[in-house]
Amino acid sequence: MSLKHDKSDNLFARAMNVIPGGIYGHVAPVAGLPMHLPKYIQEASGCRFIDVDGNEWIDFMCGFGAILHGYSNPEIDNFANVQRNKGSVFNQPSPVMVELAESLTSKIDFADWAVFAKNGSDLTTWAIRVAREYTQRPFVVKAKGAYHGVDAWCDPGFGGRIDDDRSKILEFPWNDLDYLKSLLKTYSKQVSAIILTPYHHAAFAPSIMPAEGFWSEIEKECQKNGIILILDDVRVGGRLNDGGSHRYFNFTPDLSIYSKALGNGYTISACTGKKFLMNASKEVFLTGSCWNDAVAMSAALKSLEISHRDQVAESIKNKGEYFCKGLCARAKKYNLPLFMTGPSSMPYPWFEGDENLFRIQKFCKIAAGKGLYFHPHHNWFISNSHSIVDLDLALDLADEAMCELIQIENS
Ligand SMILES: Cc1ncc(COP(=O)(O)O)c(C=O)c1O
Repeated sequence: MSLKHDKSDNLFARAMNVIPGGIYGHVAPVAGLPMHLPKYIQEASGCRFIDVDGNEWIDFMCGFGAILHGYSNPEIDNFANVQRNKGSVFNQPSPVMVELAESLTSKIDFADWAVFAKNGSDLTTWAIRVAREYTQRPFVVKAKGAYHGVDAWCDPGFGGRIDDDRSKILEFPWNDLDYLKSLLKTYSKQVSAIILTPYHHAAFAPSIMPAEGFWSEIEKECQKNGIILILDDVRVGGRLNDGGSHRYFNFTPDLSIYSKALGNGYTISACTGKKFLMNASKEVFLTGSCWNDAVAMSAALKSLEISHRDQVAESIKNKGEYFCKGLCARAKKYNLPLFMTGPSSMPYPWFEGDENLFRIQKFCKIAAGKGLYFHPHHNWFISNSHSIVDLDLALDLADEAMCELIQIENS
């Protein structure tokens, strides 16, 4: 199947005149998004979308994780529309903000309060400032290669940065507790926070789960050294446990941040925290022009309700297992050493020995020609709108793609 892309290319050419880079960030062609994937999308429903050239795709990226209950979910859209008809941004917050904070603090076991913003980055950065305010210490520890957002203390780019931006950021390799402990010894009583994702989901590399005892050791070190433990649950939140990923891994952070799946595509993020951090959090200024957006808050309220009611984390885990097992079985048929790393509902595909990523890139490119949106160097996402019929169709198309891959490699 050859995909049409004239309209996409035309739009991109127009964009190059009026938008720096045409498309920026991790979805910029070449920089992050492979060229064979569409540049512009027209509409989406469930787990499928149609690009501007009319090509239909079965999606395995879910808006890079923002979609948990399927695109254009009617239950969420209808609920949000009730608020949309009343208005979205006012001079003051609307009642739904209180309802959403109550909903989050009742679902997230350690949380006594919640604040809201628009993006994950807004609140990962705010959270480390809360930790600094509380502890009156400058340093922050993070895992090497972990993404926490676009701000200068953590973004993966180099542009516009000065050395000072990261002079108080320390890094340790994920799971390397000896390294972490030696860092904490060196910087004794100067570390305000350790910020970590629930497991290591770096781009361009297989996902790494926490080693046995990792989280309990992290908790112990934080308690021993008076350090605030911040869970960056922006990407994973709601996908492993509707009460937060710490419940899945059995630990308790002091602060946790959510965004992607929280509003099912409506723009919202949240930080929740323990009571002892309430005063410090009041001291760190927090606002944004449209952050009181009642429509997004309504969508989040409904989205949380659905996650709990339909046991969505369990459901996507089962769907993910079905899909990952199916994909690996088909790979085996062709002697392709495929491993689906990380949790089954957000797997990162890895061909053993494919350090330069050429094989996975080739496979994803062939799959794209069949209408499968597979990303070669970012974890994929399964939503609760992926049905077994969708997954079986995707597996059959992936099988064809693997067959072609082997033919090309052997020719
Ligand atoms: C783990 C993690 N933290 C923070 C962010 C930043 O979130 P946002 O892009 O909404 O600013 C992301 C985004 O991908 C993320 O995956």
